[in-house]
Amino acid sequence: MSVADRRLQAIVGQLSTNQTSAAATTNQNKDDSKTDSLTVVDNRTGKKYNFDIKNNTVDAQLFKQIKTANGNGLQMYDPGFMNTCSATSRICEIQGGKGILRYRGYPIEQLAEKSTFLEVSYLLLYGELPDNDQLQYFNNRIMKHTFIHEDLKQLMSTFRYDAHPMGMMISAIAAMSTIHPEANPALAGQDVYNNIRLRNKQMHRIIGSMTTVAAFAYRHRIGRPFVDPSGKNLTYCENYLYMLDRLSHVNYKPHPALAKALDVLFILHADHELNCSTAAMRHLSSSGVDVYTAIAGAAGALYGPKHGGANEAVLRMLQKIGKVENVNKFVEEVKAKKVKLMGFGHRVYKNYDPRAKIIRKIAEEVFTILGKEELIEVAVALEKVALNDPYFIERKLYPNVDFYSGLIYKAMGFPTDYFPVLFLIPRTVGWLAHWNEFLDDPENRIVRPFQVYLGKGLRDYVPINQRNSNNNNKVNILSDISSESKRRNAATSETEWK
Ligand SMILES: CC(C)(COP(=O)(O)OP(=O)(O)OC[C@H]1O[C@@H](n2cnc3c(N)ncnc32)[C@H](O)[C@@H]1OP(=O)(O)O)[C@@H](O)C(=O)NCCC(=O)NCCS
Repeated sequence: MSVADRRLQAIVGQLSTNQTSAAATTNQNKDDSKTDSLTVVDNRTGKKYNFDIKNNTVDAQLFKQIKTANGNGLQMYDPGFMNTCSATSRICEIQGGKGILRYRGYPIEQLAEKSTFLEVSYLLLYGELPDNDQLQYFNNRIMKHTFIHEDLKQLMSTFRYDAHPMGMMISAIAAMSTIHPEANPALAGQDVYNNIRLRNKQMHRIIGSMTTVAAFAYRHRIGRPFVDPSGKNLTYCENYLYMLDRLSHVNYKPHPALAKALDVLFILHADHELNCSTAAMRHLSSSGVDVYTAIAGAAGALYGPKHGGANEAVLRMLQKIGKVENVNKFVEEVKAKKVKLMGFGHRVYKNYDPRAKIIRKIAEEVFTILGKEELIEVAVALEKVALNDPYFIERKLYPNVDFYSGLIYKAMGFPTDYFPVLFLIPRTVGWLAHWNEFLDDPENRIVRPFQVYLGKGLRDYVPINQRNSNNNNKVNILSDISSESKRRNAATSETEWK
């Protein structure tokens, strides 16, 4: 065994020990050993049931035993998972009422101030902060993987000139699964991820590739040639800015304070427990699909304006409001439920999002270097009005992470539709941490919720000439038809299909 191999083995051994010991420590802290119980009386039958309460949850499967004579077991109905825990996790803790966010127990404020994005990535993936050797090894693996496969580079140049960057990212990530068949359970066997080195390699490759693919998506849109990673001693975010911006400069080095600001923003966005996209990541992973396809699916969930697309939506909203004088009128429209105040509200935080506080500080730092983003005044006025208005107070609606991040991205010169990409890059780490955890979870099962069927009962097929057209006509199947199609329809021709 070579020295490099021995070193690798020691580090991988350490990584797995970290995973187990982190799990054990958190377990001691969290597991609710004293058993409480819940008594339920089914008023249909008069029967009484006792269920154990563990970690303030009741096992939903226990409710199956509540049955009427010929009925099925009782089920929980919870669209949108408003009150359902679908997994145990040891990665990220949010206490929404108190505005607390911790990664593996460490407060987000400390990590944002003292750590770096790659160190936090290590923490999220492996459970503990790394020592010097571990961090150096991890850093090297990630930076090596910033060099992406040439096929992927070619793919990036085939998109339409104005393609939305998230569309490009999602397609490119999915395409990565075709480039790495050795890591695809469909081809290499369902136990392929039991090989920890292979699993680590995919995680390192994905984190490394993400900034390169994102930089290529940006350059493609502005019609500039792709810039390969620097290969010099740049940090993850410096190298990203290098790939975004370098022209023909020699020894190009981005402004360190801007790279640092981006690094902190990446720390803040790295994980957020079972949000919509991370739940999607676990959902897809549960089917056994390869990690690239699962990440592409999670990225699809992130793209939506209620989730990772919110920063983009905030900026469009601020641009529409335009001036401080228009803020009150806009808030009235929100209260009349004509529009939403984007960047406000959260499923879990019913207090100020702790990330929003840190982001306000970063905004000031970025504005000092690049000049003030004029919409900041509209944002500050909007926040002030909303925080003092009973509509928002009663509903516990506070600014979330997206309220100010868009202004920083704008000040940094990113196009509005690129904002979700700046959320996607760091969140990939959270998805991978959850994927890694899910693979080792003894309770890991395919995710398959039930439904409450409210549709038609059994009925017989009716031949087409006997159908009641009044019934069928109630269904709106009309589609938009372009003027060009109308012109074509007006022409005479023989159709090829009936
Ligand atoms: C994040 C979000 C999807 C959470 O949704 P949710 O947990 O399902 O909350 P609800 O939609 O049930 O909201 C509860 C109440 O607050 C209102 N509300 C929630 N967010 C609001 C917003 N941003 N603007 C105005 N009203 C809002 C709802 O209309 C509802 O009012 P009602 O009780 O009179 O019906 C929602 O707050 C939202 O759409 N925010 C804007 C998008 C955004 O910033 N997303 C980024 C999240 S990090």
